[in-house]
Amino acid sequence: MRLSHARANFPDGFVFGAATSAYQIEGHALGGAGVTHWDTFAATPGNVVRAETGALACDHYTRYAEDLDLAAAAGLDAYRFSTSWARVLPEGRGTPNPEGLDFYDRLVDAMLARGLKPCATLYHWELPAPLADLGGWRNRDIAGWFGDFTEVIMRRIGDRVFSAAPINEPWCVAWLSHFLGQHAPGLRDIRAAARAMHHVLLAHGTAIARMRGLGMGNLGAVVNHEYAAPADGSPEAVAAATRYDAIYNRFFLGGMFRGAYPAEALEGLAPHLPAGWQDDFPTITQPVDWLGINYYTRKRIAADPGPWPGTAEVPGPLPKTQMGWEIYPEGLRFFLDRAHRDYTGDLPIYVTENGMANADSVQDGRVADLARIAYLDAHLAQVRQARADGVPVAGYFVWSLLDNYEWALGYDKRFGLVHVDFDSLRRTPKDSYHALKAALRRDN
Ligand code: FCB
Repeated sequence: MRLSHARANFPDGFVFGAATSAYQIEGHALGGAGVTHWDTFAATPGNVVRAETGALACDHYTRYAEDLDLAAAAGLDAYRFSTSWARVLPEGRGTPNPEGLDFYDRLVDAMLARGLKPCATLYHWELPAPLADLGGWRNRDIAGWFGDFTEVIMRRIGDRVFSAAPINEPWCVAWLSHFLGQHAPGLRDIRAAARAMHHVLLAHGTAIARMRGLGMGNLGAVVNHEYAAPADGSPEAVAAATRYDAIYNRFFLGGMFRGAYPAEALEGLAPHLPAGWQDDFPTITQPVDWLGINYYTRKRIAADPGPWPGTAEVPGPLPKTQMGWEIYPEGLRFFLDRAHRDYTGDLPIYVTENGMANADSVQDGRVADLARIAYLDAHLAQVRQARADGVPVAGYFVWSLLDNYEWALGYDKRFGLVHVDFDSLRRTPKDSYHALKAALRRDN
């Protein structure tokens, strides 16, 4: 099965890449990294399937050359990776781990040697445990701690990265982890969530300013979006979906690009935000050079009689991935169009993550992940539609290069273009990898 799109359908310079993150692939027990809140969250019964952790993961720390060979052989232009704060600064602050700095130095050089553009994300969720002890994202001081980490790692690799973004998916860092309790630190507290939502943006702006200070360019922000469809036509469901959209999607873009939070989010969050939050917008709105959107699914939202925000997810009728997520490609075009129209204007927009989990297995040396090929095909069609709408979409990254540690769901949920056998750690490119490779050939 082939993709119905080819490189020639996109403008010259359009960037095709694959994305990964440090804790999900590296092997956190290797190389002198410090303890993170994901290690302790996973060690607490009931938080993570089978209490799995990223201790070994894909052993990318050892096998990174083989993995980058696979990325390059697929014809990808770029590789989006993240830097583990606790690998660089095991205590979160203070003395760096030389092995950690050396690793990212080697990794960036290995990308460049293969013609892959290094696209760095500074934080993809593994907060050093000593900072979690101090309140983590609830503590305003995290902006300064994060700014210091940014300088330590970027003084080492910032001269060679193609792009850099401070924080992957502020909604997950804040709401999913401090209100829904599904990710580390596993809190379910509206005050904690409101503070984390604001501090994550303050840390974003602080890191952007620090990187500008180092002379770096091509700096961006990466948000995740979920399309909120009202469960029915009732005014209550429409209002609930609007609140969901405000908290999930518009809060972070509003903060970064408009210096304002949406009214439908403030109606519940304002009493819980830290004093003087309005004064932080000059930092939060530090200009960026691009926006990254991660997109996977939509949710159908009904009104819930409980306390604010009074939203409930209702099962939807569309085909679902291994995550149980509905496949709704149209949402990607919606968000590309809206970001361009309402927030980012002429700035380039990248799809920094898109992909699906599938119950893949190796049969006779092959992984026939036809559902993933269809998923990528349908979403690439939406990217082309958005470009036709006039949105300056500049690149598309598949999540993910490798099957990996899918956070609270452990190693069962397979998102990779490349299958990983978690016993032997053997890599097997899936049919989707081969389909993408065929589409990216320059002689098509
Ligand atoms: C995104 C995360 C990534 C992965 C995918 C499936 O929200 O950025 O780490 O978990 O979802």
